Amino acid sequence: EVTKDWNGADQVAIRSPRGASVRVCLHGGQVVSWKNDRGEELLFTSSKAIFKPPKATRGGIPICFPQFGNCGTLEQHGFARNKIWTIDEEAPPLNYGDNNNKASVDLLLKPSEDDLKCWPHCFELRLRVSLSMDGDLSLISRVRNVNGKPFSFAFAYHTYLSVSDISEVRIEGLETLDYLDNLSQRERFTEQGDAITFESEVDRVYVGSPGVIAVLDHEKKRTFIIRKEGLPDIVVWNPWEKKSKTMADFGDDEYKQMLCVDAAAVERAITLKPGEEWTGKLELSAVPSTNCSDH
Ligand code: BG6
Repeated sequence: EVTKDWNGADQVAIRSPRGASVRVCLHGGQVVSWKNDRGEELLFTSSKAIFKPPKATRGGIPICFPQFGNCGTLEQHGFARNKIWTIDEEAPPLNYGDNNNKASVDLLLKPSEDDLKCWPHCFELRLRVSLSMDGDLSLISRVRNVNGKPFSFAFAYHTYLSVSDISEVRIEGLETLDYLDNLSQRERFTEQGDAITFESEVDRVYVGSPGVIAVLDHEKKRTFIIRKEGLPDIVVWNPWEKKSKTMADFGDDEYKQMLCVDAAAVERAITLKPGEEWTGKLELSAVPSTNCSDH
């Protein structure tokens, strides 16, 4: 099912037979909605979000590539989230059916002449967004070097999770890890506490994190399970009160309803030789908290 969004930019929607859904925008290759089979939205989008190029929408899952943050010569978080992607017609269609419990859409980004001026590396960035019969969301990105020489890049799935109250949320799986603190020039610290909880602005890159982490929303009795491959780091971001007020496309109190937890490759750049390809995978499930002991 391919639909047009309210501002003319193409969106693709996938709906599972049980009623879960995902919507992906060709602007940015950005997932802008993910709903469970009860129709509950699981990703945060700001009420002040601007749904028009050239800036990424505040919410959903913007793709940060080939740079993360402002450590580099490119615009903040790289250009991929601000570009119009195309549907990758060469990718095999994947629909629910015999032996297949997923439906997918495949998007493609290649550099424009302008992109090559600021980042002179020929690449193909492919994104497969899949929704399983159970409503799990998976994003698989592949970057291929179609250049004559090696290049390096950073990558992040900048995932805005929707939470009921940030003060009631905790992350499990990052205890005792080292993190780079973006609030103090990426100084390195070691996490001391138990699960991570929130009472002020947080902007950290947890390095070398495990393949599975959990975000527990106590009030909503929901747990997000985040599984990742090829992405060693986890970025955790909440702007809190003061920074929220400086962001034009973000409501003053909206920091209470969101938490960004990004599967990412930030600390060490990924380097591809000519002809090489890298794959980075994110899988998200949202499960009732009472069933969490299995995960
Ligand atoms: C986070 C960064 O991932 O993204 C923050 O660590 C940044 O420093 C935030 O403020 C939002 O970035 P942007 O460009 O979408 O406003």
